[in-house]
Amino acid sequence: MASGQSLKQGEKILFGITIVFVVFAVIGYVALEAYRMQAEKPIFGVKTHYDLSDLGHKGSELFRASRCTACHRAMGNGTNMGLSLDGQGSKHSKEWIYDFLRDPEATYGSPTVDHGYPPKEASYVSSFEQDKLMAIATFLSELRADQGAASAPMPPEGHSGFIDNMVGAFAPEDWKQKYQDVRERPAPEQEDSAQ
Ligand code: HEC
Repeated sequence: MASGQSLKQGEKILFGITIVFVVFAVIGYVALEAYRMQAEKPIFGVKTHYDLSDLGHKGSELFRASRCTACHRAMGNGTNMGLSLDGQGSKHSKEWIYDFLRDPEATYGSPTVDHGYPPKEASYVSSFEQDKLMAIATFLSELRADQGAASAPMPPEGHSGFIDNMVGAFAPEDWKQKYQDVRERPAPEQEDSAQ
């Protein structure tokens, strides 16, 4: 009977591995927090900003009340499950956003996952009243990206060997004739003039 109490070899190994994982996770967490607290610059810099108009402010309240944050993140709130909408206004115009919310698939020009017709989970969005959709679209268009943000049209300032390598590896030869590299454009479009 006593032998039933002691761990088998395999159990000991599994138990040991689990302990090692937990110890590493705790050490990693403590080290990261300690570094974060004394670091002068934030580890993950925020590269988006916003300056809300009255309608945009109303839209931000509707955005929160309409369960958009169940799938999206905006102004640092919400989840990382779907697309982050921070910087959305530097990606698309207010009109595009409004059209997307009203008629997602036609605006995307391809099938969508959650927006669109029932039973898709976010299909309820397209049946909102026009005023409500316009307020939300205005809010999202006022979420702007700084250069170098994931949602910004321009990559980070300065030369990046990494981007050169990626372009070299993934951009087909004929693209180089068809498209101009945004980094070589003379004057990058001023981010806030797109409104
Ligand atoms: C169930 C999850 C879900 C909910 C709820 C949801 N969305 Fe989305 N949203 C998505 C997904 C996924 C996409 C990508 C398009 C697609 O496949 O549907 C998207 C795309 C978008 C886009 C286009 C972004 C881009 O750059 O292509 C906008 C704008 C947007 N959602 C706004 C909203 C707003 C406003 C609400 C609330 C009224 C909302 N969403 C609620 C999941 C959701």
